[in-house]
This record gives sequence, C-alpha cells and structure tokens, in this order.
Amino acid sequence: MVGLRFPGYRIFELTRQYYPIKLVLCFKGEVMKKTIKDVDLKGKRALVRCDFNVPIENGEITDDIRIKAALPTIKYLVESGAKVILMSHLGRPKGEPKKEFSLEKVAERLSELLGSDVVFAPSDRVVDENVREKAKNLKEGQVILLENVRFRKEETDNDADFAKDLASLGDVFVQEAFGTAHRAHASTAGVAEFLPAVSGFLIEKEVKFLGDAVTDPKRPFVAIMGGAKVADKIKVIESLLEKVDTLIVGGGMAYTFFKAKGYEIGTSILDEDGIDLAKNTMEKAEKMGKDLVLPVDIVVADKFENDADKKVVDADKVPENMMGLDIGPKTIELFKEKIADAKTVVWNGPVGVFEMDNFAEGTKAIAKALADSDCVSIIGGGDSAAAVKKFGLEEGMTHISTGGGASLEFLEGKELPGIAVIQDK
Ligand code: 3PG
Repeated sequence: MVGLRFPGYRIFELTRQYYPIKLVLCFKGEVMKKTIKDVDLKGKRALVRCDFNVPIENGEITDDIRIKAALPTIKYLVESGAKVILMSHLGRPKGEPKKEFSLEKVAERLSELLGSDVVFAPSDRVVDENVREKAKNLKEGQVILLENVRFRKEETDNDADFAKDLASLGDVFVQEAFGTAHRAHASTAGVAEFLPAVSGFLIEKEVKFLGDAVTDPKRPFVAIMGGAKVADKIKVIESLLEKVDTLIVGGGMAYTFFKAKGYEIGTSILDEDGIDLAKNTMEKAEKMGKDLVLPVDIVVADKFENDADKKVVDADKVPENMMGLDIGPKTIELFKEKIADAKTVVWNGPVGVFEMDNFAEGTKAIAKALADSDCVSIIGGGDSAAAVKKFGLEEGMTHISTGGGASLEFLEGKELPGIAVIQDK
C-alpha cells in the first residue's frame, strides 16, 4: 500500500490489492483517524485528555472557551454510557504541585456548564490510591476530573511509567486536547502506548477546518500574519506562502519587514534575527508571483502606553523617536479590500497592540471585516482569538481554533504528536 500523508491525515491511498488498481480517495483534510463514534463506549472508562489551560485571574476563570469546546465530546461520552475520566494541564507549574495551578475551579465551571456534577479528584501525585478508587467506582455517565497533570515532572518528560499509570485508569484514550496536541507529553502521547486512542469531536473539527484551509482552500486564499517576531512564525509564513494567493503581514513583525526594505522604523519593535528571513520571504514571494502586502501607513506613538501621543504616518516615514503600534486608515482599507475579494482567510496574530484601546482600531477593523465577510474565516488561537473575543465577533467567524502554538505548527504542515497517536481507521 502506498500512502501519502499530510499533517497527520491521509490525502489518498493507492491500494494494489486487486486488479484493476483500487483507488481509495479520501476527502482532502478529512481525518482518517478513529473517533469516539468508532468505538463502543457503554460501560467503558474513557480517559479523556482535554486542554483546560484557561486564564484564571484572582481565582476566577476569565475565558472558558476551551472548556466549552470540549462539551460536545463529554456530553456524547456521558450519553453513550461511558465512565468519564478527564485530565488536563493548567499553566506551567514545572513538575510541582502548586495551588494556583489546581484544576479545581475548572471542575466547578465544568459542572455548571454540563448541568451535572463533575467530581474533582485532587492529588499532588495526579494518580494515587484514592484517585484509582474514584475512577474504579465510577458509574456509567459519571465524570471526574484529575488534578493538573503537570504537577508531575514525568508529564512533560513523557515518562512511560507515568503514562502507564494514567492509562491504568481507563479502557480507551480519547484525545480532545487540540491546544496541546503539539506536545509529546505523557498525557497527550505516551498514554496511547497503553490504550487504544481515538479522537474527540474537537480534534476532528480543528483538523477539518485548519486542514481544509491549507489543502483545499476556496480561492482567493489570503493569510493575515501578525504578532511580534518573524522568527517565531517564519516556518508557518513559508509554508503558507506556497499555498496562498495573498499574504498580508501586519502587527509587530511588519517593522522587521520595513527594516529589511531599508525604511526608518524609529523605536518600533524590531526582530534583528528576522531581518534576513523577512528579506528572503519578500524575494521568494516575488519569484513565486505571490501578492505580499505590507501596511502602507501606520499609527505611531511616542511611548508604549495607551495615552501616548499618536499620529498617522506613511509606513516609510516613522519619526526616529516614535514607534508604530497599529496600522493606519489607508492600510485598513487596503486589507479590507483583500478580505472582500477572498474566499478563504487564515488569520494568525493581531495587526496592532489591540490590548490598548487607542491602538486597537486596525485589529478591530480586520476582525469586523472577517466577521462580515462570506469567506471561510479561520482564526488561529492565542492572540487573534483573544482579539475576536474582545470585540465580541466570535459568531461571525467560521472557525476559531482553540490552539495557539498547536494551530501554528499544524499550519506549518507538521504532524502533531498528539494527533499522530490516534489510531487510523
Ligand atoms: C496553550 O495554551 O497553547 C496550550 O495549552 C499549551 O500550553 P503550553 O505552551 O504550556 O504547552
């Protein structure tokens, strides 16, 4: 059998079993992986890896989108008569139990959202005799949540014994943590050595939308890249450049592109290591006949503060004592025109410092243009997802990824370890 694979899923297979050659053609972007619909769950202990890495401020969850995103899978498991054991990380406690990183609050929020009790199973060791008992005594349709798996150093080490310990709690492993699927940790990958692994609905949805966008986009296909560092995103920029018709570069990284073009950028953020990368990208785009669009005007400020003095200048005329913090009105119109022509848009990274209201105009205008457009709009997780939420425009988007780093690596074309371990159909 000859198989061609694209980030963790099969594009097509040629099977030479019989004559004439049988051609098995799968839909592009379709996950040819087992899902919870492919297994009998009744009475089974489903060990589910979620990404409940949510922001908590003053003891309160400030954004529960990642918890909500896992609800369809949890509800399906409950309705199918599974005994549900949820696990997740929260933050980076560096292998030590730390109260502020406890998942207790998540269990409370989850109970509210599900409308039924989610029993929290606290343990500094994550798995101990008590937890084992709780998991063993679960009844069909009951749900428990383990403590933060990163309370154990063995989690990020992908330690086989810890993975085995976790696996001993379940009969089947359900991968639902798209946001952490780029990490090869004990609870995201190692555990699949000891249990049959299937995907939950969130993984399926993320792979479908992100996968279709890069393998089978409706054209024109536009990518909008923002964020501060070129080096952090260069791989995804290079990968997307191959596929898009138009690449828009905004946000902090635009100033590195300007520097590469020889513009004065004043005190704007500069990624020194990224100057050559930016130059190469522009040369490549030209050779490939791709439309690489940079801001033509920007909002500059005298300091990195919301109440700074600001004005709009042409992109090549940043005063030497000022810094660019947002795109200007001409650029907003230019980017909006590109979005209006597009049939698919992937957006990763804000185009300005949207956290400060006085420099949020550009990012807001882009989000609004996408929400109003009929195009397939795919929002990478992290900052762009946070911006869409801030402006209350979630409803207008086709798909908002729950993964920051994971969606970037996926768009780069990498096979994510947490997805690779899911059994093929
Ligand atoms: C995220 O928030 O991007 C994921 O939960 C992964 O977290 P990590 O970067 O700490 O592994």
